Amino acid sequence: MNAPEAIRPYAARRAQVLAAMGRGVAVLATAPERTRNRDTHHPFRFDSYFYYLTGFTEPGAVVVLIAGETPRALLFCREKDLEREIWDGYRHGPEAARTAFGFDEAYPIGQLDEMLPKLLADQPALYADIGGDAAWDARVIDWLNAVRAQVRTGITAPGELRDIRRILDDMRLVKDAHELDTMRRAAAISAGAHQRAMRATRPGRHEYEIEAELLHEFYRHGSRSPAYPCIVASGPNACVLHYVENDRCMQDGDLLLIDAGCELDGYASDITRTWPVGGRFTGPQRDIYELVLAAQAAAIDAIRAGQHWENPHEAAVGVLVRGLVDFGLCKGTPESVIESGDYRRFYMHRTGHWLGLDVHDAGDYKRDGAWRLLEPGMTLTVEPGCYIRPGEGVPEAFWNIGVRIEDDVVVTPTGCEVLTIATPKSVADVEALVGTGD
Ligand code: GLY
Ligand code: MN
Ligand code: MN
Repeated sequence: MNAPEAIRPYAARRAQVLAAMGRGVAVLATAPERTRNRDTHHPFRFDSYFYYLTGFTEPGAVVVLIAGETPRALLFCREKDLEREIWDGYRHGPEAARTAFGFDEAYPIGQLDEMLPKLLADQPALYADIGGDAAWDARVIDWLNAVRAQVRTGITAPGELRDIRRILDDMRLVKDAHELDTMRRAAAISAGAHQRAMRATRPGRHEYEIEAELLHEFYRHGSRSPAYPCIVASGPNACVLHYVENDRCMQDGDLLLIDAGCELDGYASDITRTWPVGGRFTGPQRDIYELVLAAQAAAIDAIRAGQHWENPHEAAVGVLVRGLVDFGLCKGTPESVIESGDYRRFYMHRTGHWLGLDVHDAGDYKRDGAWRLLEPGMTLTVEPGCYIRPGEGVPEAFWNIGVRIEDDVVVTPTGCEVLTIATPKSVADVEALVGTGD
């Protein structure tokens, strides 16, 4: 393969998929454009599977892979249109896209309905991602039916409809060098954004002012979007797991929990830090913070190739539960609290998820009923937390303490590399930074 450097990873992935398919045709579209209101659209974000195989970021595109003795990769994309390009910007058009992105053939997207039934004729299997978008599913079925309608002419329709994600999910789960490089850069930008947010925090400011600091740092380093809506949650909001209103005025004595990460060149970062709005943890806040920090350290310690997916979660729960019992927040022995699940009043989510093109990335967590074994190159988050709402039996000093500490890691043969290591985390480092900005 003589593909230029920039397109080599995508061409290599297409070759890998074609080899895994054996024989058949795979069809995968990028994401549809979504209307926001009237003639205004939501910002376009390509489909992650499509991007993984193409690197092509324009809307209105479909990749077709034809596996067999002479494997071929086809791109269908928008035609050049000078009138539309004056309004909406540059389009490659099929010929330029074919060369720039290393496809064997490229065609106008308008030819897809006519060409697909011909490409599917006499193929044993059709690979698609049925279930993601109803309108796309209907088109795939239409092409299949168009081939079936010709059987009396001697043409055979694909006898099997297979999920292309079975192949792609396993590939996406283990990141290649190109992906890890992008993820390291995304993580570094987000680490800088959290530092900026720490410096900007002080009583009397609104959560959205801190959100603006995060977004400013993302954008000025080339990220065009957060990987998910920023959670900037102060005081009681820190106990709302998916809080996104971000409009409260922060007060001295509050904790501020920020879960925010940028997307860079398609790849997500995902960091949570928690710090005191006034710059100093109260005693109970510090106790819970140190507990979550210890739980995270135990989870990170449990990550290495060959360990199973659940080990870090079990390690984190073990530490958290001992602390909850020590603080009198859970009654019984640590073993009985784990057994009964009583700790879930304070820790109700899991300790991590795969991370990559999607913040909750592709890939199974179990295989044949057993937790997956970690492999070098898998990337995941480690994000234990503790959320204490006001309630019966909870001493008032702990009310509204919500703490989560989240880092992104890549599995290595002997442990893991923490991609988000530059984000301050110890009590001393956090307290030293909060409120030191303008
Ligand atoms: N920010 C989403 C998550 O942590 O899972
Ligand atoms: Mn996460
Ligand atoms: Mn997160």
